[in-house]
Amino acid sequence: MKNLVIIDHPLVKRDLTLLRNRKTPSNQFRAILRRTASLMAYEVSRGLVTKGIQVHTPLEKTHGVTVDQQIVLVPILRAGLGLVGGFVEVMPNARVGHIGLFRDEETLKPVDYYFKVPNNLRKALVLLLDPMLATGGSAAAAISYLKERGAQKIRLVSLLAAPEGVKKIRKIHPDVQMYTCALDRALNHRGYILPGLGDAGDRMFGTE
Ligand code: PRP
Ligand code: URA
Repeated sequence: MKNLVIIDHPLVKRDLTLLRNRKTPSNQFRAILRRTASLMAYEVSRGLVTKGIQVHTPLEKTHGVTVDQQIVLVPILRAGLGLVGGFVEVMPNARVGHIGLFRDEETLKPVDYYFKVPNNLRKALVLLLDPMLATGGSAAAAISYLKERGAQKIRLVSLLAAPEGVKKIRKIHPDVQMYTCALDRALNHRGYILPGLGDAGDRMFGTE
């Protein structure tokens, strides 16, 4: 699908099922989301630029590689925080920015409250992390902000996406590659993804 990669892996599907389950408590939800994020990171980082280096094993010298690309992770607060640990585990040198946005419950429009991203985004691969791509309003606003700060290569990583959100990002930011674990059916009248997993922030932090 144009600009959209669905991460289709048995372990990801298993974890997604656990995350969808309304009986999964917050402590397990956080742990499973972190594990899923690491699995997603493999797919999202496919094609990273590498550089050949020499490595000395205990026996002899051989060829190896090192990653030769700056990576900046940017979670959208709050729920995006749940993906950071899993990404950092496999990308330990990544720098991390934060974007604070919440959706107004009536208008469903994003309201911003915090921005802090590293300098020199121009050359970096920026991975924007948010488990839920619903109307796409929050992600579209975050991408615009990152572009204003110089980001040129942005990938949007979500756990679940609704067709409405995918369509919006394709239209407003056609240069942004999206990754998700499932493209769900639709949004309900309150902008929640169906079948979805509910409110990701509330489920992570127990704030329902
Ligand atoms: C959720 C989610 C996204 C946004 C998606 O955050 O984490 O940021 O909604 O919706 P959209 O695609 O329609 O913009 P929420 O606003 O609930 O804030 P929270 O993470 O602080 O709970
Ligand atoms: N935000 C969430 O946390 N869940 C949804 O289903 C939609 C937006």
